[in-house]
Amino acid sequence: MQVNPVEFREVLGRFATGVTVVTTVANGRPIGLTANAFTSVSLDPPLVLFCLDRDFSDLDAFVRGECFAINILADDQKDHSVRFSTSGADRFAELAFETWETGSPILPGAVASIDCQRHAVHDGGDHAIVIGRVLRADLVTSDSAPLVFHRGAYCDIA
Ligand SMILES: Cc1cc2nc3c(=O)[nH]c(=O)nc-3n(C[C@H](O)[C@H](O)[C@H](O)COP(=O)(O)O)c2cc1C
Repeated sequence: MQVNPVEFREVLGRFATGVTVVTTVANGRPIGLTANAFTSVSLDPPLVLFCLDRDFSDLDAFVRGECFAINILADDQKDHSVRFSTSGADRFAELAFETWETGSPILPGAVASIDCQRHAVHDGGDHAIVIGRVLRADLVTSDSAPLVFHRGAYCDIA
């Protein structure tokens, strides 16, 4: 049976997710994109993954780069989600960030961030499945509620 792509997207959109900004550095340049295809994989060893569109303009920075960070956005960071998914924008313009073990940008105001060393990259069709070994995972603003994405829109879990 054929899967209708429009219906498939509609079905997948019913799965409510958080929203992350995944970051790395390549040749001294910070790189980041909004991603909701993120999940935990393993506690021991600590592994997480995200799925990266093979059309992403800086694909190699993640599939060949050594490390990346996952920033779990708070409900007041919708602007970050928009900024980091807008093609052609200077995504880090006037944005202060810190770095932890790997040098990947850690965004202030996120609910939590996870600093990773690239562990493996697997084939995921038109996406690459990028698995990271967690070097550090910390709550950044522990009281914040997460930004939630459902049916193609940001929503309030409260
Ligand atoms: C809420 C939301 C979730 C997204 N999730 C993903 C994702 O999981 N993986 C991905 O590759 N792109 C995802 N995107 C799209 C990318 O952010 C976007 O295609 C990318 O930043 C485009 O960058 P480019 O124009 O430099 O290629 C998402 C966008 C939004 C708004």
